[in-house]
Amino acid sequence: MTTNRLTNKTTFVTGAASGIGAAICRRFLDEGARVIATDIDPEGLRRLRELDPERVHVVTADVTDERTMADAVTSGVAVFGGIDVVVANAGAGTYGLIQDHDLADWKRIIDLCLVGVFITLKATSAHVNDGGSIITISSLNAIQPSAGMSAYCAAKAGVAMLTRVAAMEMGARGVRVNTIAPGLVPTNATAGMFAVPEVIRQFEENASLGRHATPDEVASVAAFLASDESSFMSASFLSVDGGGNTGRYPTLPAIFSSLQ
Ligand SMILES: NC(=O)c1ccc[n+]([C@@H]2O[C@H](COP(=O)([O-])OP(=O)(O)OC[C@H]3O[C@@H](n4cnc5c(N)ncnc54)[C@H](O)[C@@H]3O)[C@@H](O)[C@H]2O)c1
Repeated sequence: MTTNRLTNKTTFVTGAASGIGAAICRRFLDEGARVIATDIDPEGLRRLRELDPERVHVVTADVTDERTMADAVTSGVAVFGGIDVVVANAGAGTYGLIQDHDLADWKRIIDLCLVGVFITLKATSAHVNDGGSIITISSLNAIQPSAGMSAYCAAKAGVAMLTRVAAMEMGARGVRVNTIAPGLVPTNATAGMFAVPEVIRQFEENASLGRHATPDEVASVAAFLASDESSFMSASFLSVDGGGNTGRYPTLPAIFSSLQ
């Protein structure tokens, strides 16, 4: 069900070209918002803009590059004015046991998933209107460890805490800052997991609801947090994992070594 809860709100979304970010942009448009959509994928952004060229402004921007992100914000604000809602969504994972994890790859994930959220908050915060809403996308892995995913788990736990600090710093302006922690969602990022049936079987078995999520099920929570319906929520950690946090993560090292 969609309403018009975001009419006349200007939203700024990172990682907007595919998966959860694209679903959030579509949902925000359905609810009446204007969208400043940023990503490193210009083709995905072009497809998004075609949905509504008047209400979608796209900027190719890398969340790990502070100057590029500042320019993206300036460009979006020049078109639509101040920002009401920010979604710091861009992210990706990697796999490797700590003892032989390539350091550059480990740092790449921290840079993208954690530093990228910091840069997004820094670049947007001065432009977020009083009473605005900032949403970070963390993960079930912020609270549930997975062997083989140390960089991603550490980064997402960092995002959850960064969100709480930002909520303290911005609360005086009435700006709310909350994080959404999805469980398994089929996107480009999880295509590798979906190629291994045992990973998905364990995931679904461990979730109370016995299944994975759709991107829209995450987008609807983002729309709620973006709207005035969540007006007294800040520093919250919203699990959207079908109860997966009550179970355990799939045993990736055992599954992956059995494939070799
Ligand atoms: N899919 C899941 O199961 C799941 C679960 C929990 C959390 N998440 C989180 O949700 C977010 C979205 O992931 P997704 O599953 O939709 O993946 P996705 O790969 O479909 O989308 C990620 C988007 O981020 C963009 N991106 C990558 N690096 C970037 C950069 N440096 N700067 C700007 N944009 C960049 C990509 O081009 C892509 O469009 C991520 O933060 C991810 O960690 C996903």
